Amino acid sequence: MTTMPGKVAVIGAGDIGCGWAALCASAGWPVTVFDATAQGLERAAAEVPRRTRALVALERATQGIVERGLLEFTQARSLLQAVQDAEWVIEAISEDAIAKQKLFGSIEQVAGPDTLLTSSSSGIPPAEIFARCRRQDRCLVAHPLNPTELIPLVEVVPAARTSAAAVVRTQEYLRALGRMPILLKKPIPGYVVGRITAAVWRQCIDLVLEGVIDVDQLDRAVSLGPALGWAAAGPHLTYPAGDGGVTLFLQQLLGSFESWWGQLATWQRLEPEQQRALIQSIERAYKSNIEQLREARDRRLGAILRVLEQARTA
Ligand SMILES: NC(=O)c1ccc[n+]([C@@H]2O[C@H](COP(=O)([O-])OP(=O)(O)OC[C@H]3O[C@@H](n4cnc5c(N)ncnc54)[C@H](O)[C@@H]3O)[C@@H](O)[C@H]2O)c1
Repeated sequence: MTTMPGKVAVIGAGDIGCGWAALCASAGWPVTVFDATAQGLERAAAEVPRRTRALVALERATQGIVERGLLEFTQARSLLQAVQDAEWVIEAISEDAIAKQKLFGSIEQVAGPDTLLTSSSSGIPPAEIFARCRRQDRCLVAHPLNPTELIPLVEVVPAARTSAAAVVRTQEYLRALGRMPILLKKPIPGYVVGRITAAVWRQCIDLVLEGVIDVDQLDRAVSLGPALGWAAAGPHLTYPAGDGGVTLFLQQLLGSFESWWGQLATWQRLEPEQQRALIQSIERAYKSNIEQLREARDRRLGAILRVLEQARTA
């Protein structure tokens, strides 16, 4: 089997759906997008070419392949039109388990028998998402990050009934798109990335709301602190990498970590007045020039990825 599907259908044209479509187009893959709303389709018509071409400027794609891919980028007028001849259907609608269940029930009725069905969900267990599908062997979660066309990590989360062949095929497609899939051995709400993000973000929010630090300083503390080390190697290679290894690391620092763990925020809800305070703090830090800040973020991401790739192949 070829690693390039004859056609990809992306359902839902929000940030993530447009990112998937841009990624497929940037690899020269034929891709069609369907959205339940006219605004969604209009957004895709403008956003997907813009984001695909931006990958050339970021040296993440080559112009010839991008333009060839964009020639085969279309917007479908119906779910049927999008799905009927697709070999891979990527769902990227809002994070709503019931809506996803209904959608996959409809997709199953019009998809070909060999079509692979993946969901972009950020954390809903796959057995729940595909509950209305009669055949679940070809169904699984492929959770991207945002911006999807830039960040290579994708979490692959099979359900108990997903076939091994569907997992392999998903990983092959993702690798052909330059992605780096990680495979979860069992599904868990929030998967792995969401749970790590939720834990770190709760601490970040708490530090801001407790008045310990301003939002821009906090963001710098994360991106130039732990995240910089973690970009080169995960925590278990970063922390114990010094002389003495993990045993010495635990002897020296476990006590400190244990005392901090005992004091970390454990709240599970962000009350309305806390939400307002957080929004105010973020807007104070970033509102005046959010577009430039986003572009600068993507430039830095592109640069980090280039350097990491060079270092990996050196
Ligand atoms: N935003 C992120 O950072 C992020 C990251 C990774 C994964 N995800 C996941 O990806 C999915 C999409 O996220 P998003 O941020 O792009 O959402 P979004 O709300 O921005 O976009 C969803 C789009 O789907 C359309 N839609 C809703 N129901 C539909 C239906 N039944 N049929 C066709 N179109 C429909 C909406 O009109 C909208 O355009 C979610 O499951 C989300 O959890 C999001």
